[in-house]
Amino acid sequence: MEKKIKKKYSDFYKTKFGKKILEKELDYILKELKDRRDVLSVGCGPAFLESELAKLNPHLKIVGLDISKEMLEDAPNSIHVALGDAECMRFEDNSFDALLYVTSLEFIEDYKKAVKEAFRVLKLGGKVIVLMLNPKSHYFQQEYNDKGSYIRRNIKHIDIEKLERFLSHYFSLKTEYLLGIKNESIFDTANPKFASLYIVKGIKRSKELREFK
Ligand SMILES: C[S@@+](CC[C@H](N)C(=O)[O-])C[C@H]1O[C@@H](n2cnc3c(N)ncnc32)[C@H](O)[C@@H]1O
Repeated sequence: MEKKIKKKYSDFYKTKFGKKILEKELDYILKELKDRRDVLSVGCGPAFLESELAKLNPHLKIVGLDISKEMLEDAPNSIHVALGDAECMRFEDNSFDALLYVTSLEFIEDYKKAVKEAFRVLKLGGKVIVLMLNPKSHYFQQEYNDKGSYIRRNIKHIDIEKLERFLSHYFSLKTEYLLGIKNESIFDTANPKFASLYIVKGIKRSKELREFK
């Protein structure tokens, strides 16, 4: 990844707008991780969110994983991060209580391999929390129309329903919209036109890793 793009990406989270987004995501995920301990964040990027999560709930043991060395270079020292591919992870079977994809599953080339890996490394009863950019939202469309944006250049899957369908083979799911954005102001909404995130959460209910196409 070009240094310039990486810097722009990390710098975004230092802006007032970026900090507000991070805060909302943080609030949501903290609640979802109540009673969980070992957490893997796949596609963590610069891991700012993960490092804040660990500060706010010291009981959590969080590991961040990303395929981009450049992204990981910006990660705070306080957080444990590993370089690796979501499609083929080095973690043991049944080793995490929760697994996060924070706007990352739709950026992974072979999302099916990644979902199977998520299932494999989660314990029985483990929780997957997938925050996806909502393609119907104004925010997404604005970013996507900008040919130089990180999203436009790197996203691999825009049909998020197909991702949800595949996740449903492995996890029993609940879904919701989050994080309204309009002109850099942030508000609560479940309206798909304004909610920048579509969230899919699921629980691993069986041990057997079955094959689905
Ligand atoms: C939009 S960024 C999200 C980063 C971070 N979670 C955040 O919220 O800022 C998508 C991330 O997915 C990572 N990624 C893409 N393919 C991957 C793969 N196969 N394995 C691990 N990470 C991957 C990218 O390197 C990038 O850091």
